[in-house]
This record gives sequence, C-alpha cells and structure tokens, in this order.
Amino acid sequence: MNRVVINPNGGNKKISRHIYGHFSEHLGRCIYGGFWVGEDSPIPNVRGIRKDVVAALKKIKVPNLRWPGGCFADEYHWKDGIGPRAERPKMVNTHWGGVTEDNSFGTHEFLDLCEQLSEPGLPRCEPYICGNVGSGTVQELSQWVEYCNFDGISPMADLRKKNGRDAPWDVRFWGIGNESWGCGGNMTPEFYADNYRRYATYARNYGKSNVFKIACGPNDSNYEWTRVLMEKTCGERGNLIDGLSLHYYTVPGEWSHKGSATEFGEGEWLITMRKAYFMDELLRKHSEIMDKYDPKKKAGIVVDEWGTWFDVEPGTNPGFLYQQNSLRDALVAGIHFNIFNNHAERVFMANIAQTINVLQSIVLTEGGRMVLTPTYHVFDMYKVHQDAVKLPVFVESDDVRLGFGTLPAISASASIDDDDRIHVSLTNIDLKNDQKISLDIRGLSAKSVSGSIITSAAMQDHNTFDKPDVVGIAKFNDAVISGSKLTVTLPAKSVVTLEIAG
Ligand code: AHR
Repeated sequence: MNRVVINPNGGNKKISRHIYGHFSEHLGRCIYGGFWVGEDSPIPNVRGIRKDVVAALKKIKVPNLRWPGGCFADEYHWKDGIGPRAERPKMVNTHWGGVTEDNSFGTHEFLDLCEQLSEPGLPRCEPYICGNVGSGTVQELSQWVEYCNFDGISPMADLRKKNGRDAPWDVRFWGIGNESWGCGGNMTPEFYADNYRRYATYARNYGKSNVFKIACGPNDSNYEWTRVLMEKTCGERGNLIDGLSLHYYTVPGEWSHKGSATEFGEGEWLITMRKAYFMDELLRKHSEIMDKYDPKKKAGIVVDEWGTWFDVEPGTNPGFLYQQNSLRDALVAGIHFNIFNNHAERVFMANIAQTINVLQSIVLTEGGRMVLTPTYHVFDMYKVHQDAVKLPVFVESDDVRLGFGTLPAISASASIDDDDRIHVSLTNIDLKNDQKISLDIRGLSAKSVSGSIITSAAMQDHNTFDKPDVVGIAKFNDAVISGSKLTVTLPAKSVVTLEIAG
C-alpha cells in the first residue's frame, strides 16, 4: 500500500498564490477572440473584453497574468499600443503565423483586463509585463514603467492621462526580456546578464511602487545559464534580481512530431507523465545553483512558461498553437502543482502557457462559445492552496511500469489555511489500478474529511463545445477515517483534493 505522511505542524512557508498564475501572449486566438472581441462585438463584453471569460477566470482566483509574450514581447513596442485605436500603427507578428497585429489590445486594455479579473476584497489579479530587451531600447522599457507607475507630472504620466487614465496602475512584476537565449535575441548568458543589469537599472520605483524584476532564466536543464546569471546578479552585496524565470514544456514526442492532444496510447500517456515529473528535478537542480549565490532564497524561481505542447489541432493554423486538452493534461497540471507547492521555498510564481486557445489552455473559445478544459478544473480544485502554509509531505508510492523503467504512481502536496483546514492534493497516473493510500497526518485525529475528484472513463476524454461537461469536478467519497489515519482509494488516472478538519 502507498503511504503519505504529513506533518501538520512542520510548515513555515506559504505557498505563493502566484504559483497559480497565467500567461497570455499575442499568439493565435489567445488575446484576439479569447479575451478581446472589441466593444462593437455581439459577444457580451465590457469595454471589449469578454464577460464569459472574465467570469470563469475570476472563479479560480487568477492571481496574476503575464503579457504580451513570449517571443512576441521582444518585438513589441508598447507605444504602438496606446492612444486612439484607429491611429495605432500595425505590425507583423513574425513569430506567430505572420499575421498583422493591429495593436488594438495594448497597455490600457491589458491593465483593464487585470482590473476586471480582480474581485473586490481579494488580492487583485496582478499584471506581469514582459519588457522588450531583444529589439527594444533601455529607454523604451524605462518609459513603460514610468507610464504605468508614476503618480505625478512627467512626460509619461502626462501621456497616460492624455490617453484617459489618471491614476497609475502600480505594476509590480516586470520581466526583463523573454527567452533571451533564443527568440529574445539569441544571447549568451554573459551578454544577457550584462544587458539585464543595464535594463533593470532603469526600471525605476516610483512612489509606493516596488518593482519586482524577473530576469530571463534558463531553458529547462540549461544549468550553466542559471550559474552565470546568478553569479553576475546576486551575491553578498545584495541581489539585482527578484525572480529568475524558468521555461519548461511537457512535450511527449520530438519537436518535429510532438504527438496529438487527444489521440494517443498508453505509451504516450506514460512518457508525458515522466516528462511532467521532470519538473521536480529541474527545480531541485536550479535551486541548488541559486542557493550558492542566494542562500537566503530572496530571489524566487518564476516558472513563467509551463504546460503541455502537442501538435496543433488538424486543420488549424500551425502558427497559432491551438490544441485540445484532455484528462492527460489534468494529470500534468496536478503533478506540476504538487511539485510547485513542495518547492514553495524557492518557487514564487508559475504561469501556465497559455490561458486561452493556445497550448495547455484552461479555456477554449469559438465565436461566442466557450468551454472549460480539464486543466481549468485542476486550477479550480487547487485554488485552496493559494497563500496557505505548505506542509511537508513524505510519499512512499507504488510503481507504474514504463518500458524498462518505472514511475511513482502517486504524487502529493498539502497545506494548511488560515482556518486550520488541511488540504491534501493527490494524483494517480496509473491507467488501470486504483491506488490505496494510508494517509497519516501526524498527531491529528481527523474529525471530518471531504473531497473532490477529476477523472473520466478514458484517458483521452476532453470537453468540446457540444459536450462541455465530459471531464469536470465530482464529489469524492473514498477517503475514510480509520483511527488516527485515513485510507484513501485513489481511482486510476485521477486528481483528488481532500479537505480535512481535526
Ligand atoms: O508559449 C509559446 C512560446 O513558447 C513563447 O512565445 C516562447 O516564450 C516559448 O518558446
């Protein structure tokens, strides 16, 4: 039998709510058609932003939204996206399908979106703007920060007011370039680190704003990039970075043939799971390097692009990266969140790629229709961990066979919230077998347990516009209190979250 042991008094670090963050790029139908339909659209909207999408995202308490890219960010010149829409210059989106970008969604529209996504009384949905280091100037980035954050008389604050916004937005999160090792300029780590120091210097704090600067970090296991960046930006005299990004995609096949999102066999399921589990090794190894230069863990890892990447849906524009989302994606999301929660000491933020209609989306749209994907439901289920205190978890798992190797069948993470409720999240990747778990919350005699589950009959099951409820959240009743422990029977291919009160 599997064993999960949790120490309910061993937590001293909050799971940052920003781990449950999002990423939305000017790519395919993420912004245009996904969020933005324009004020004259018959699709219900507030100032051009879809009402249905905003309502769905508010429900899962989206803590932050990264924008405008991605690769797009390093070609984006923000001044093209302000002022009267009809007068904004157009550009070619060279990375994503070579389509014409008319800049109708710019800084004001993005920050309006973040405000619409914020629920009064709760922490706001914080904007995370990724600046252009690849083809933009230091002055451009510096002025963008001034435009968004300065509350006084200055050229950029005056321009903002002229464009209809008096109060600054107080944008805290700023990315200093994206994938500077690749689409963001093909830089060496040394060259980027020097550039980072320069661009970041002029991203000023205005008034009460305290800019949180996120350096472009490594692509998956490029540990040398992390080492050079940390060496050149952190040390005894203090850190020049607040966050270091990490990008890692779960790609079951080769980049040239990644595999279908919905037509796959058991082998592809298991390879996908193995690749999802790899996030743990990445975080451990990058953290070890960071510990050397930043032993107090002041700089956080910001996994600002993660998720599955499959072949595009047949018949769709290859440059738009539109893919379906199945129960397999839900397991990938659950595994990632368990790993992120367990690395709460170092992981400050994570942003799934991408919110709508691109890669591992949580929402798909088609004209006025919208469907929530299995991944959406995992975000919904795991929102209980946002800003709760992480509890140390020990897992002893049965194995699932993968070719000549094995994978642990279950993964787990746990937290305790302000009302002393303990939440335990569990995943079972085994396609055939339920997993029985002895769950021991040390020293706690549980008085009540309730739970919710995401599973489905077939691993390829997914939601469509005609059948939107194939994969969703159901009540879970297979956690039973027996003495000082709980016995949980976790169905094959499932994600479960339990709520336990002592
Ligand atoms: O998310 C799609 C793309 O993947 C992003 O634009 C880029 O940063 C990454 O390579």
